[in-house]
Amino acid sequence: MLPQRILEQISANRHRYVEELSDFLRIPSVSTDSAHASDIRKAAHWVLDKLNGLGFQTELCETERHPIVFAHRLFDPGRPTLLIYGHYDVQPPDPLDEWVTPPFSPSIRDGYIYARGATDNKGQCLTYLEALEAILAVNEALPINVKVLVEGEEEIGSPSLVPFLTGHLDQLEADAIAISDGSQFASDIPAITYGLRGLCYLQVDVQGPRFDLHSGSFGGLVANPVQVLSEMLAQLKNEDGTVAIPGFYDQVKNLQPSERQEMGNLPLNEIDLKQYLGVDQLVGEADYRPLERRTARPTLDINGIWGGFSGEGAKTIIPAKAGAKVSMRLVPDQRASAINELFTNFLHSMVPPGVKVQVSEIHGSDPVLIDRNQPAMQAAANAIESGFGKTPIFIREGGSIPIVGLFKELLGCDTILLMGWGSPDDGAHSPNERFSLEDFHRGIRAAAVLFYELSRMFNESP
Ligand code: BES
Ligand code: MN
Repeated sequence: MLPQRILEQISANRHRYVEELSDFLRIPSVSTDSAHASDIRKAAHWVLDKLNGLGFQTELCETERHPIVFAHRLFDPGRPTLLIYGHYDVQPPDPLDEWVTPPFSPSIRDGYIYARGATDNKGQCLTYLEALEAILAVNEALPINVKVLVEGEEEIGSPSLVPFLTGHLDQLEADAIAISDGSQFASDIPAITYGLRGLCYLQVDVQGPRFDLHSGSFGGLVANPVQVLSEMLAQLKNEDGTVAIPGFYDQVKNLQPSERQEMGNLPLNEIDLKQYLGVDQLVGEADYRPLERRTARPTLDINGIWGGFSGEGAKTIIPAKAGAKVSMRLVPDQRASAINELFTNFLHSMVPPGVKVQVSEIHGSDPVLIDRNQPAMQAAANAIESGFGKTPIFIREGGSIPIVGLFKELLGCDTILLMGWGSPDDGAHSPNERFSLEDFHRGIRAAAVLFYELSRMFNESP
């Protein structure tokens, strides 16, 4: 469907696209770290400049924290409108000493570009902008109307999105939404994602004595917050890997036998996976296969824990406080707010005398399932097939993209095309994150074809 001249344009500019990606990756736009506030702004402007160069009408929308880039190029109200979403913020790069080359000095090795944000999400997001560029280099107009929204708070749970979306409902109206912020099922097995897990992310703070005490002088008199926290956290899970919070599973919709069968047919090599992860055994709910546990079952994980003295040598104290961050991945029909309440009640029911415990929310987003049978899925499948040379399979992903649920809820748009260009072993959120240059190139081609496929599809439908 894609005019040959556009494909040629994409091939001819392959190396320049990689250079542009390197420039983008050099900006350490870590959203959770206030020390990077000016880098965040730099990354937003990088995206803005790119879109300005493509003749888009652009706007840098200020929020309480990091700005949102919003742009559009509308050609004809009679043509369909696609909204493209991505994020320019990245996760923190630590542990730094595990990177072979520094996280913000992009380096190319063996066909991969290594840098924080390479796959998540700068590389994947840029595919759309380069595809737009290629089309506009050859043609006067795009085959469809295009809106672009690139935010800087995705990795901290998109707190500014609700006010932004509710304030821009009309401007955001679209027939379809395209997001490439996940991965193929495996390297060379392209996929369309129809399910994402939700997230209930909480912080637990335990306060004991007013200040750190001498553990000799005061040991035996007070509750120890690190001890208390450890005991409470240990009770959150049962020995069989299930979550022990009463009511946690009440709203979980059972997987249909057909879906389980479909997942069971997907190739997942447990031996390779264990080797990649560096563990001698996979653990989790015994009744479910690893792929089901990773994408379609809810989980609870302690992300970090702190308290007391862990420096070099000795410091004999009873710490005054301790804390932990806990994330729970949710599946249909669990609700983040309800799970927050169950967790908080359960934790408070365990608090022993002598300490105060506080649970606060860091982020909440609901799980989503997208209708696989709608016509736009065929347009996405054709685009992927033409960019990657293979028919995509349908998968559910274990990660969360808060905007997807919000788009459905606030914009009423269910035509959300989740097409990950990356690979599960790209190392998103890990040291040595990377993106295959081949996948980058294929993603640009697929994105370009998508515009034409959507235009064709909407023109053909009655
Ligand atoms: N790109 C990921 C989400 C993702 C991961 C989708 C794997 C599909 C497969 C995204 O940038 C991310 O990491 N999101 C956070 C969201 C959170 C902070 C609200 C996540 O899932 O932890
Ligand atoms: Mn991402």
